[in-house]
Amino acid sequence: MQGFSLQTGKYSVVKEKEIICGFSKLSRDEKLSYIAGHYEDPERFRKDLESYHHPDPEKQKLFDEFSENTLTNYYMPYGIAPNFLIDGKVYHVPMVIEESSVVAAAAKTAKFWSERGGFHTEIISVEKVGQVHFFWKGNKTKLNTLLPDLVEKLREGTLQITANMRKRGGGILNIDLVDKTDEIADYFQLKATFNTVDSMGANFINSVLEEFAVILRRFFQTSPYFNGPERNVEVVMSILSNYTPECLVRTWVECDMNRLDGIDDELTGEEFAFRFERAVNIAKVDTFRATTHNKGIFNGIDSVVLATGNDFRAVEASSHAYAAKNGKYTSLTDIETGDGKFRYTLTLPLSLGTVGGLTNLHPLVVNSLKLLGNPNAEELMRIVASVGLANNFGALKSLVTKGIQKGHMKMHLMNILNQFKATEAEKKLAREYFKEFKVTVKSVQDFLEMLRDPSFIVENFFPGNHEVFFKR
Ligand code: MEV
Repeated sequence: MQGFSLQTGKYSVVKEKEIICGFSKLSRDEKLSYIAGHYEDPERFRKDLESYHHPDPEKQKLFDEFSENTLTNYYMPYGIAPNFLIDGKVYHVPMVIEESSVVAAAAKTAKFWSERGGFHTEIISVEKVGQVHFFWKGNKTKLNTLLPDLVEKLREGTLQITANMRKRGGGILNIDLVDKTDEIADYFQLKATFNTVDSMGANFINSVLEEFAVILRRFFQTSPYFNGPERNVEVVMSILSNYTPECLVRTWVECDMNRLDGIDDELTGEEFAFRFERAVNIAKVDTFRATTHNKGIFNGIDSVVLATGNDFRAVEASSHAYAAKNGKYTSLTDIETGDGKFRYTLTLPLSLGTVGGLTNLHPLVVNSLKLLGNPNAEELMRIVASVGLANNFGALKSLVTKGIQKGHMKMHLMNILNQFKATEAEKKLAREYFKEFKVTVKSVQDFLEMLRDPSFIVENFFPGNHEVFFKR
C-alpha cells in the first residue's frame, strides 16, 4: 500500500532503502530530510516528527544528545500511582508505561494494602559483579600460589579509578580467580564483586575491569615465576555481569485472612487466599505461566525503572536469569498461608542507581526522584520491588476472580476509540454505553458505526445526552 492511510493515519514508505554511509555525521535536520525522502509526502512526515520536538531548543538538544541519530522524541505516558505505603512511609510513585491498565492496577493495589499495613521490605545484599575472561595455558598450581600477589597488584593498580567510589563507601569487594578449564580449555575468569553505593555502577565497573586486564597481561609478562608460553595471556573481554544475584531486595504484604473478605463478592477472604495460592503455585511449576506471572511483575518494575532513569534491560535480564537460578524458570514470588494469615513475597535482584547516568540529566527523571524524596539506591530498590509486587498482586487478584479482560478492556477503550478517530462527544457517549456493555474492538467499531449512521437518533439511546452529541 502506498500513500497516507485514513484508517491508520500513517504515511506509507514509498522509496526503496539503500545503504547510506556517514548517516551519523549528518545534522539532525539533514537526517530528517534523508529519512523524509523515503515517504510520499516528505514535508508532512517532517512536520509530524517536528511536532514532537521540545519547544525549548536547549532541552531538545539535551534529548538529542542522549543517543545517536535522534530525529525527534518518542512520547510515553508519565503517570503516578499514589498511596504506596512502604515501610511506614507514603510514596506517590511515578510510572512510565503505555499499557493502559498498569498504573490503575498499581494505584488500586497500593490503596488496598495501605489499609492493611502496606509493603514491608528488606535489602538482602548489594553486590555487583564484573568479569575479565581470559585464556591461559600454564601451571595452575603456580597461578594459584601467586594469586594473592596478583590480587594486590589489581587493587593497587586501580586505586586511582576507585578513589571516589571508596570515598562514598564503595569500591572493589572481592577478586577471585575462577577456573573454567573443565568447560572450555584454558579458560579462566577474574571475577570481581563491587559495591557501587548509589550508582548503578556500570561505567565504574567496566573501567576497573579494563584496567584489571592491563595489569593481568603485565603480571604474566613480567613475573619471574612464569616462563615461555606461560607469559602469554589472551584477554577476550572485560565487562560487568548484569546478573546480580547478590544485589537482592525482598518486599512483602501480609494480613489476617479475614482482611481479604470482600475482595470478591462471592468469596470469603480465606477462599480468595486459597485460589490466589493455587495461581502462585501454578507459576512455580509451569514455565509458560511463570513467564506471564513475572511479566506482570515487570509491568510495575519497568515503569518505575524508566521513570527514574534506570536501565530496564539490565533489570529484566538479571531477574529472568535469577528466576531460572535453580535450572528451571519459575515465579519470582512466594506465598505463605496458614494460621489464618496471608503473606505474599517478591524477591528479586535490582541493580539501580539514583546518581549518575540519566538521573540528573533527564528533567522528568529529576522530578521523579524528587517526588520520591530523593531516595538512595537501596530505598529505590524497596520502592521499585513493591510496585512490582503490587502489579502482580493486582493481576492475580483479577485473574482468580472476575478475570482481567473486563477491567483491561475498559482501560483500553480510549485507545480503541482513538484508533477509530472518535470525537470528544462520541467518546463521552462511549464511556457511558460501555459501563453496561463488553468492550471489544468489534463492539466499539459497531457502536461508532451506529452513532455515525445519519438515521441514528441519539436521544433514543442516551436520553439527556443528545445535546452533547449534537455539539460534536
Ligand atoms: C498483562 O500485562 C499482565 C498479566 O498477563 C500478568 C499475569 O497474567 O499475571 C495480566
